[in-house]
Amino acid sequence: MAENSDKTFYITTPIYYVNDIPHIGHTYTTIIADAISRFKKMDGYDVFFLTGTDEHGQKVEKSAAEKSMTPIELADKVVMRFKDLWKALNIDYDYFIRTTELLHEKGVQKIFKSLQRQGDIYKGDYQGHYCVSDEYYLPEDVPLEKDGSKICPDCGKKAIILKEESYFFRLSAYEKKLLDFYAENPEFVRPQSRMNEVVSFVKSGLRDLSITRTTVKWGIPVLEDTDHSVYVWFDALHNYVTGLGYDWNLGLFVRFWPADVHLIGKDILRFHAVFWPAFLMAAGFDLPKCVYGHGWWLKDETKMSKSKGNVLDPQVILNTFGSDSLRYFLLREIPIGLDGNFSHEGFIHRVNSDLANDLGNLVQRTMTMIQNYFGGTITEMDKAEKEDKKLAKEFKAVKTKIHQYYEDYSLNKALEEIWSYINTINKYLADNEPWKLAKNEENRGRLGRILYQAACALRVIGYFVYPVMPDSADKIWTFLGENKSPAGQCFSELQFDQFKPKQKTRKPEILFPRVDLKEFLKEEEKEKTMATINFNEFKKMDLRVAHILEAEKVEGTDKLLKLKVDLSTEQRQLVAGVAQEYAPEELVGKKIAIIVNLEPVVIRGVESQGMVLAAEVGGKAVFAFYPDDVPAGSKVV
Ligand code: MSP
Repeated sequence: MAENSDKTFYITTPIYYVNDIPHIGHTYTTIIADAISRFKKMDGYDVFFLTGTDEHGQKVEKSAAEKSMTPIELADKVVMRFKDLWKALNIDYDYFIRTTELLHEKGVQKIFKSLQRQGDIYKGDYQGHYCVSDEYYLPEDVPLEKDGSKICPDCGKKAIILKEESYFFRLSAYEKKLLDFYAENPEFVRPQSRMNEVVSFVKSGLRDLSITRTTVKWGIPVLEDTDHSVYVWFDALHNYVTGLGYDWNLGLFVRFWPADVHLIGKDILRFHAVFWPAFLMAAGFDLPKCVYGHGWWLKDETKMSKSKGNVLDPQVILNTFGSDSLRYFLLREIPIGLDGNFSHEGFIHRVNSDLANDLGNLVQRTMTMIQNYFGGTITEMDKAEKEDKKLAKEFKAVKTKIHQYYEDYSLNKALEEIWSYINTINKYLADNEPWKLAKNEENRGRLGRILYQAACALRVIGYFVYPVMPDSADKIWTFLGENKSPAGQCFSELQFDQFKPKQKTRKPEILFPRVDLKEFLKEEEKEKTMATINFNEFKKMDLRVAHILEAEKVEGTDKLLKLKVDLSTEQRQLVAGVAQEYAPEELVGKKIAIIVNLEPVVIRGVESQGMVLAAEVGGKAVFAFYPDDVPAGSKVV
């Protein structure tokens, strides 16, 4: 919206590890970033929003090996999951950086080399607690046992002490510079309580940082000393400059650097508020303006973890509720800095009460009345009375507050304020009872006025919720007959009465259907059991390409076809419920995928020795056909 603006804004999320699929924690940071970025655009800023994936390191190497994949194959697969999820959640990022991109790798190597040349990086020996079975150094924060050893949190075995050659970053030289910087920039770490944590960590003394490993092969090699690869954090943190064009699009880099805000979870604060500014100081780059550490989401008051099996899959929630409900809940429930608790009861309560009742009903009622009483266009209205003007008057104060809250990243407060205004509008309708006025033709002018006021108020509500709920906001504006999105209007230009009196409105649809908790939990359980087979279970399925030799209808049925297929080593007979989609002669000669090792079943007296794979589209089956040159019997993996 504001590409020519002289106000720029650069916002980032952490880059996510690819050894696991996206969960609610990743979703949370990314939604916050998206909402802030959308608000900033509405506020006239030229925004750059960066997210991406952190793909190197031992954990990824190990995860890939467990899945019989190469690290890059695993990364490619998980990146797709992230990108699909961001699409489903309406995340409008500008660039998705992957640390395996050549441009990133080259940028990191270049910075490494120049710090090495100037003496900020030097070679020494690294000694740490090394888990032989998992082949990695335990993180520094794994606590020491009484005998001074450490136990591997993954396998539970005792780690050995191992020493290897390593490059070090001279972090100790930056202690004073960092403390001076924090003192001059008290807003650098937010919330304030986290700044105190950071300052006391630095004051307690900084040791030089080991930033390479010879034991890890899946990483960026150090130039001219390729036995060493760059350790994940030195690699990962630099995504914030390489993803912005450092060393490949300097125009972009110069325009947006330094970052206005790095959004992160509180667990990775030290890396961002201590190590990262020190790396940047050494490289001579400006420092980011703010590192914002958000809280953690717990599930039913406990930490989520794979072993407890209580990790929330955002996709399951999205499938039932759509993206806006999840975005709203996560941003409304807690201030960004605090921990939050996710319970299904709490979530569904919010969806039903705030979204379905307060906002959804208001939109539905107002738009339906305009349709029913005026055919969609308010053609008549009296002058505004004193109480009608109250909504407009209150709007001014509400707009200022919402602007301040969004600007301060107090998204929950902005939403509270919006909901309080929604309640005012609901009360205005309840007090004026337009549905009663509609019974008498004489009241038409008054009725028109009330509905006009409500439509104006809905237009600004649509505008205010846009950063958090872009889909619903667009819909509200479409119902009102607007031909643009709220994104196309500048915050400072928003007025109460911009809904045009003679504007043709459209029939509304339900924005947020009410949800029944029990039904939802049942659905979720179903999806969970479907979603959790492991790779070995998957490998048990024998999927093959089958060549259809014969096809005919199963006698006495409308839907079933009997197929004779060739698998090169043998022939099979199958029954498939596709007679309404495909004529038998269409299928003969085609190559399809079937599951071979499914127990045979008898359907309408005919034995089916396997099952055909098909997509289900609107209740109809659609086959995927392989090209002629794919041999029958080929494995499908
Ligand atoms: N790859 C590093 C970040 C490198 S940034 C240069 C990393 N990745 S991560 O995938 O493990 O975590 C990414 C983010 O998810 C972190 O900010 C972390 O705080 C956040 N969350 C993980 N679980 C979370 C919750 N349960 N709740 C909220 N956020 C949490 O760390």
